[in-house]
Amino acid sequence: MRLTVIGTGYLGVTHAACMAELGHEVLGVDVDPDKLAALRSGEVPFHEPGLPELLARHTASGRLRFTDSYAEAAAFGEVHFVCVGTPQRQGSDAADLRQVDAAFALLARRASPGALVVGKSTVPVGTAERLAQTHADSVEIAWNPEFLREGFAVRDTLRPDRLVLGVRSARAEDLLRTVYEPLIAAGTPVVTADFPTAELVKTAANAFLATKISFINAMAEVCEATGADVSVLAEAIGHDDRIGRKFLRAGAGFGGGCLPKDIRAFAHRADELGVSLGFLREVDAINMRRRDRIVELARELCAGTVLGRRVAVLGAAFKPDSDDIRDSPALNVAARLRLDGAEVTVYDPQAMDNARKAYPLLGYALSAQEAVRGADVVLHLTEWPQFRELDPDQLRSLVRQPRMVDGRGVLDGAAWAAAGWDFRALGRPRPGGEGRDQ
Ligand code: UGA
Repeated sequence: MRLTVIGTGYLGVTHAACMAELGHEVLGVDVDPDKLAALRSGEVPFHEPGLPELLARHTASGRLRFTDSYAEAAAFGEVHFVCVGTPQRQGSDAADLRQVDAAFALLARRASPGALVVGKSTVPVGTAERLAQTHADSVEIAWNPEFLREGFAVRDTLRPDRLVLGVRSARAEDLLRTVYEPLIAAGTPVVTADFPTAELVKTAANAFLATKISFINAMAEVCEATGADVSVLAEAIGHDDRIGRKFLRAGAGFGGGCLPKDIRAFAHRADELGVSLGFLREVDAINMRRRDRIVELARELCAGTVLGRRVAVLGAAFKPDSDDIRDSPALNVAARLRLDGAEVTVYDPQAMDNARKAYPLLGYALSAQEAVRGADVVLHLTEWPQFRELDPDQLRSLVRQPRMVDGRGVLDGAAWAAAGWDFRALGRPRPGGEGRDQ
């Protein structure tokens, strides 16, 4: 089929390349000339494992092309996927829908009669209905939310847990089933739904994931007050398959371009609808308190003040296998310590360029070893696998004071303590020490 993908951010580039991989002719549309130039030469403007290979293959074969012209897109596509961003609105918790509204309007004005325009962006419930009413005379609308995770974007698109098709006609459903035919043939479950349900599947899924993380982080707070160990607690409750072990990693909490803004937008939308989702505000608050706790621990370890102290921060991306620093707990903590007068040096395997641009006042190092040199305290805030392999003995010879805060709960505390480090992890007792001292 001939498909267009409007918006070549994270979701759009991944969707476009994966649809080409499924055998479709794909035209990606964006207004940013730099992004288009990079994409045309097969270059992905962000870090995502597996995506550069896919993009290079399909741009070289000509099956995947890019343009800035909506007229060209409208003439080309049988099905148009809208993948533009819905960031948090300035000064409000609500989602900013300007890019979505513009993309639908620009397409609807030009598309051939009856073209199917499919929203994939995460939107407040009610958006698809509003757009369908606005553009009823020109195009048909469907909603097909996306559940990909950064770092696993290609895998999640080509082997999704489910496809959700928010459709109003058998024709729209047939078209979408044809687009995804290879995935459906491979056994991917398909859920067809009305518009509000399709929109809600996405927001509900992200709200649930955020709640799960904040639940375990609230338990970490209780563990800190009692000397219990949140990692053992998570493992034990996770054996109950009604609860499950996934998304129960306590630590610095969730960041990124999705979970934080999505739970805020969902609570905001619920208020508009007269439904209270106040618990999501608590989920948000618990998440932010974990960042406070790390700042506090760094201060405690530095005898009450970080003023003039050297702090090494391992990690800048909001999670490993990504160079995305949006709402990154690591950089948020780093920036706060810098404001408190610390001299902060950051190292991340992928996110250095993005971090430098957004936080030019922080110091940056080219390796973990360089970052910790002369440090009074080291904070491990993004769980890149290479940080797990750091040698506590080697690092000890580089720092000024061997003090480590594991904000991701994955380092071997006993090994670090045995190498002479004052080791702290969120929600866990001090190795070999009294739990409540934590
Ligand atoms: C999230 C969802 O997982 C995807 O399903 C969804 O499609 C996507 O948002 C989106 O809306 O586009 P993503 O933002 O890539 O994906 O990241 P996650 O893997 O969900 O991680 C989010 C944050 O939670 C990270 O900062 C991570 O470090 C943190 N996290 C995750 C924890 O603190 N503990 C855990 O147990 C799991």
